[in-house]
This record gives sequence, C-alpha cells and structure tokens, in this order.
Amino acid sequence: MRLDKFIGNNTQLSRTQIHAAIKQGIVYVNDVLVTKTNTQIKDTDKVMVDDQVIEPRKPRYLMLHKPAGYVCANTDSEHPTVLDLVDAPFKHELQIAGRLDVDTTGLVLLTDDGQWNHKITSPKHMHTKNYLVTTANPIEDSYIKIFADGVILKGETKLTLPAELKVLDKHHAELSICEGKYHQVKRMFAAVGNHVIALHRNRIGSVYLGDLPAGQFRYLTTQEVESFGQ
Ligand code: URA
Repeated sequence: MRLDKFIGNNTQLSRTQIHAAIKQGIVYVNDVLVTKTNTQIKDTDKVMVDDQVIEPRKPRYLMLHKPAGYVCANTDSEHPTVLDLVDAPFKHELQIAGRLDVDTTGLVLLTDDGQWNHKITSPKHMHTKNYLVTTANPIEDSYIKIFADGVILKGETKLTLPAELKVLDKHHAELSICEGKYHQVKRMFAAVGNHVIALHRNRIGSVYLGDLPAGQFRYLTTQEVESFGQ
C-alpha cells in the first residue's frame, strides 16, 4: 500500500496534511526518513508521523439504541440517520447490520467489518431477533400457533420460519424471529389481520440492548462480538 494511503486510512489527517508532513520530514518508515508520498509499504512496516507510531485501525463493533424518527442508512435527505448519533472517527465507514424501519426503536448493530456484518445478516446464520410489539387490535392466543407454523406474507409464496410469540397483554407481545424479511414483523401481524403501532427490538442473537438509553451507543465487548461465531 502507498504510504500516504496508509496514513490516511489510519489517522484523521487530510491528504494535504499528510503530503505536507512527508515533505516536512517528519514521516519515518522503519526509522528511516521518507520524503516520497508514493513510497510503498508492507503490513509489517513501522510508520511514524511526528514521533507517533501509526497503528493499523482495528475493526469496530457498536450497538446503538435507535430512537423513532432516525433512519438506518448512511445518508438520508429527509430524516436524521443513526450515524448522526455516533461520535466516532471514520463513522461513515460503519455499516448497519440489520436495519430497522424509521418508526421502529431499539437495538441496531454497526460495524466496519464486512464479514461480521454478513454473519449477522445472512439468512444462513439464523440469529434470533426479539421484538416487543404493540398492536392496534387485541392479540389473539391463536397467533401463537399461527406464527409457530409460519405465515405467508403478502407478496410471498413461502411460509415464514417458525417464530415464537409470547402474549404479554391484550395489545403487547414479544415476538422472536430468526429471519429478517422486509417489514417482517409488521407483515406477520398484517397476515393475521392486526396492525403494529409500535415496534422495539431488544435482542439480536445473544446481544441484548439492556439499559442503554435511547439515542446512545456503546462499543460491544469481545464476548458479544464473538457470540456471532469466530
Ligand atoms: N420488522 C418490521 O416490520 N420492522 C422492523 O423495523 C423490524 C422488523
């Protein structure tokens, strides 16, 4: 990789600042002064700028408590995005591992590790996602078996995978699903003639939102990261 690209990828310095630093004579590769911006470096090389060793960035894994009104996208012309809630360098490199609708609240995972993202979102891995659902009409006990057997969503031909419904009261339930079709929870309730008026995700796999306040984010623990498989 080119030296200037390596420094750009791993510091907050702009291209102009990097080129100025190299010209100024404060950039060293393996303790040797370099003055050419297009110098090629290897993974094992030690790069120093102004006496500071530049370490290659490590992948990042975050959870965020999405409030209603924020979109799960990197940019949007109409609404604020979940990235507006994240205060981290290079935040626009973060991808959302499993989106929520603009009106849905709760747990969103973000990462710049594409493989990890794939482990969470790929249908093959089937991590359970847990949703707290509020409905417009009363929730019938019959939904428990219907959702366990699978329903055909509007516009689809295959049954949804077995889902577990716990009825909490007349208008509240907890639904656990292990797939992530577009608007899946809302469409499942629509399939039984009901209407979701509020939706909140509190778990993906063994990662729980816990008491993280709405609008806040935190980095995942190593254990949480590894819980999706290594
Ligand atoms: N299912 C939905 O219908 N909406 C979401 O945001 C997530 C799951």
